[in-house]
Order: sequence, then structure tokens, then C-alpha cells
Amino acid sequence: MSAFIVLGAQWGDEGKGKMTDYLAEDAEVVVRYQGGNNAGHTVEVEDKQYKLHLIPSGVLYDTKLNVIGNGVVVDPKAFFHEIDYLQGVGVKVTPEKLVVSDRAHLIMPYHRVLDKLKEQARGKNDIGTTGKGIGPCYTDKFERCGIRVCDLLHKEVFEEKLRTNLEMKNPYITKVLGGEALKFDEILAEYLAFAERLRPYVQDTSVVVYDAIKANKKVLFEGAQGMLLDIDYGTYPYVTSSNTTAGGVSNGVGIGPTMITNAVGIAKAYTTRVGKGPFPTELNDEMGDWIREKGHEFGVTTGRARRCGWLDLVILKTTVRVCGLTSLAVTKIDTLAGLEKIKVCVGYKFNGKIIDYFPASLEDLAKCEPVYEEFEGWDDSVANARSYDQLPENAKKYLKRIEEITETRISIVSVGPRRDQTMRVAEL
Ligand code: GDP
Ligand code: IMO
Ligand code: MG
Repeated sequence: MSAFIVLGAQWGDEGKGKMTDYLAEDAEVVVRYQGGNNAGHTVEVEDKQYKLHLIPSGVLYDTKLNVIGNGVVVDPKAFFHEIDYLQGVGVKVTPEKLVVSDRAHLIMPYHRVLDKLKEQARGKNDIGTTGKGIGPCYTDKFERCGIRVCDLLHKEVFEEKLRTNLEMKNPYITKVLGGEALKFDEILAEYLAFAERLRPYVQDTSVVVYDAIKANKKVLFEGAQGMLLDIDYGTYPYVTSSNTTAGGVSNGVGIGPTMITNAVGIAKAYTTRVGKGPFPTELNDEMGDWIREKGHEFGVTTGRARRCGWLDLVILKTTVRVCGLTSLAVTKIDTLAGLEKIKVCVGYKFNGKIIDYFPASLEDLAKCEPVYEEFEGWDDSVANARSYDQLPENAKKYLKRIEEITETRISIVSVGPRRDQTMRVAEL
């Protein structure tokens, strides 16, 4: 049995798309289990670059089955937009290759509207969401008024649920948030058209994934966002609305945790974050700008500049603990090439003590001062390394120290965006 999780160990954009694509080579099934089209996963194959938001990164192979699990929130408009984009660039997408859970919740037009209006209403306390309707959709799921994929396939059920939702939401949108009312007929017509196009893709994906694992097929669970955007363990409230941790897989797919064999945390060799919220090792200076430019740190979904800072091992230790990581994959060590000195945060100074865990309270976190170790840099030749031996000595020292402090082995090192710029250095 082998079922692997690939998840973001920081604040997202660690290279999950690239790693999923790389590891999918010897997997048969690739599964998304949380989030929605707030994600932006980049995969580069030879000279082509693909950007995926909702569809699993295994889709670039012709022979893999891709699954959108029940824990994902599905915007049908974005789903078909992505299918059309993929078909347009020559990637085949058919119901034989892609299935969607009948239990997944649908992102509705009012979720997108609410996301934007609520952000505006928060003013300077906004979260900096992607505006894709993710939070309002998960809110309805837990409020128990959400509309699921299976509802969409039953016209009368869908109509009734849409009507009830609009009766509740339109007054809130217009009277409290100052927006415009949404029109029942327009949404109904749009979604009923989606229903017919979606129907062939819909399955009970818990059964699909369970059967695949039982049949000894390799299954890969592709996380979206990252550990510190987790609704429970992230920098709340500056988080997304799903469980991005390994714990999210079991609920988001409908399989027991004992069926999962490995969890690989993807970590950039430094740290980035998009949107608002605390970031202890952030570099609000020329060094931060240098990393952003060299690493092309601009969001795939919103185009926003990513905030950049030094690698924070307090974060990685937290991810190792909360997600039970079996190994780490470190990406973008080529981005740091050319720096004379590189810093790594190995703990926080808090109330006169050194701590190595992430405090829950943002007020306490604000008092934490990163404690750094300094490393000698390496040069751009790192991008040509194809095995661990070929890495510059200083890069090896850097990686060794990450392993020591996190007490976790590094299984993969990535030295560039392409599939071939990846090396397997240990067991996953
Ligand atoms: P994801 O959301 O975790 O899939 O990551 P994104 O796609 O949002 O951002 C990661 C970016 O880094 C993408 O542009 C990747 O092509 C790129 N990338 C991934 N690994 C490496 C690497 O090792 N080196 C460099 N230079 N770029 C990388
Ligand atoms: P991938 O999968 C980085 C961030 C947003 C915002 C917060 C809440 O590409 O790593 P949301 O729209 O989810 O309610 O926004 O979460 N965020 C991400 N940041 N990478 C992502 O996805 C993200 N998805 C959401 O910027 O701060
Ligand atoms: Mg991304």
C-alpha cells in the first residue's frame, strides 16, 4: 500500500505543483482534498509552463486518474474554464481522467460577491483573500446551507436550495454590505447548464480512492495552500478556511488515516507569504526585494507580489509535528545562489526564553524575535546539479542543518522549476 501526501510546509507556493508532477510519474492517482481555485500550482515540463488552480497536477500525464475530493470547494465556472484552458494547450481532459466528488460543495456567485464585499467591510483589518469565494463557501458548508455537487444534479433540489440561499443572502448583501442583489433566474440558468456538463465527471470519490489503494495503486494527495494557512494551526485569522494539514486528507477524501503511508512537506529554501498576517522572518528591505525578483515571487492566482523572508525552522518544526511529516522536499535553493551570507531562523526569543514552537496568539507572536544562524552562500552552478554530490558544499551544509534542526530527512531537492531540475536524495 502506498498513499503519499504532498503538502505545503509554509504559507503556500512552496512548489507543490512541481513536486506533485514530479512524484506523479510513478503514481496512478492524484487527489486534491481541500481548498479550491484559490490555489495556483505551476508545473513546467520541458519548455512549457502550466498553471493549475482546481484540477490536480497529475492531469498533465495522459494515464493518471485525477480526483477532486469532497473536501474541495468547486467553482464550476472555474472548473470548466480550466478544462478549456488545458484542452487549448493540448492537455486531454476527459471523465476517464478526472472525477469530482458528489459531496464536494459548490462555490456559488454569491460566495464570490460575499468574499469581496466582506473584505472591503473589514477595511484595514482585511485578510487579503484571493476573492474566489472560498471562505463564504466553507462557511455555508458548516452552517449546513451549502449546495453540493450531488444537489446540482437534482434540478428541484438545486432550485429550492438556491432560492433559500438567495432569500437569506440578498438582504445581507444589499442592506448590510451595500452590494447588489443577485438574480435567481440568471444563476439557475447558468448552473443548470453546468450541471449537464459536470454530470459525467461526478462519482463517489471516496470509493474510487479506497479501491485504488486496496488495489495497490500508488495514490498521491496534492495539498493546496500551506500549513500556516490552516484554519486550526495557521496564523488565525490570517488563514484560509480549510484544513491544509495532513489531517485534512482523511476528511477531505473519505479514507481512514491508517491508509496514508507518507507525508512529504514541501518547503522553499526561504519563506514567502501572500496576503496579510504575521511573518516573523520577513525582510522588508533590499534583501527581500532581491529574493522576490530572483525567485519571481508573484502570485499565480492573483498576481500579487509575495512577501519574502529567511527560512524559518520554527515553522518547519511545527509542520513536522502537526502533519507527522516523513520527509521534507526543499525547493528553490537556486534562488538563494549568489548571496554571500544566508540566514536561517532556528528559534524565537520570547519573554527572555528561546522557544521552538509557534505561539497561538498573534500578540505573543508579535513579541517573538527570530534567532538566526548564518550560512555561507553558494553560486548559480547549483541549478545544474542533478545529484546530491553535485551540490555546492555550502548548499549541502545548509540542507544538513535543516535536517538536524527539524529532525526530519530531506527526500527531494529542487534546483529549478523544471521536472528535470529535481533530485531524489532519500526515501519519501
Ligand atoms: P505551489 O502553489 O506550491 O504549487 O507553488 P507555485 O506554483 O505557486 O509557486 C512556485 C514557483 O516556483 C513556480 O513558479 C514554480 O515553477 C517555481 N519553482 C518550483 N520549484 C522551483 C525551484 O526549485 N527553483 C526555482 N527557481 N523555481 C521553482
Ligand atoms: P497555493 O496552493 C499562497 C492565502 C491568501 C490569503 C489567505 C486566505 O498556490 O499554495 P482565501 O482566498 O483562501 O480565503 O485567502 O490565504 N492563500 C494562498 N497563499 N498560496 C495559496 O495557494 C493560497 N491560497 C490562499 O493570499 O492570505
Ligand atoms: Mg501557488
